[in-house]
Amino acid sequence: MSPIAARLPGQDDTPDNAAGDPDAAPVESPVREPLLTEIDHVAIAVHDLGAAIDWYRENFGAVVDHREVVEKDGVEEALLKVAESYVQLLTPVRDDSPVAKYLEKKGEGLHHIGYRVDDCAAALEAIKANGGKVIDEKPRPGSRGTTVAFVHPKTSFGTLIELVQE
Ligand code: CO
Repeated sequence: MSPIAARLPGQDDTPDNAAGDPDAAPVESPVREPLLTEIDHVAIAVHDLGAAIDWYRENFGAVVDHREVVEKDGVEEALLKVAESYVQLLTPVRDDSPVAKYLEKKGEGLHHIGYRVDDCAAALEAIKANGGKVIDEKPRPGSRGTTVAFVHPKTSFGTLIELVQE
């Protein structure tokens, strides 16, 4: 183990530790398996969905893989496929949509990150068990038939996180 790696916290239950300092106390972590399996999507809030799609198409040759109005969230989204992940362009379809409020307050830009998980409920419970603030107390239906839950940015270093189970 390099001196730098030796100083990193939270690594003590990796096999490295067995060969490292025998006196090092194991660090208890409630999460034993990596729960995030992929970046599902990067969501970008925009005023004009058509203009944003055109921009991605003209500049990057991006193709819309899926388009959907999610009534509960008051948004229309377009998913542009990038390898196994998506760029999700989001626009509000009504004034009381959280995305409408976001655009008003912060303008266009990065809105949230969707992390793919095998078990949305388990990942959500792990956050709650660690005192994390969540937006969805229970998993709920997301777009394209997924199950999702949002985690509040307040306890996740300023990032709105969506847990996505396919
Ligand atoms: Co999303």
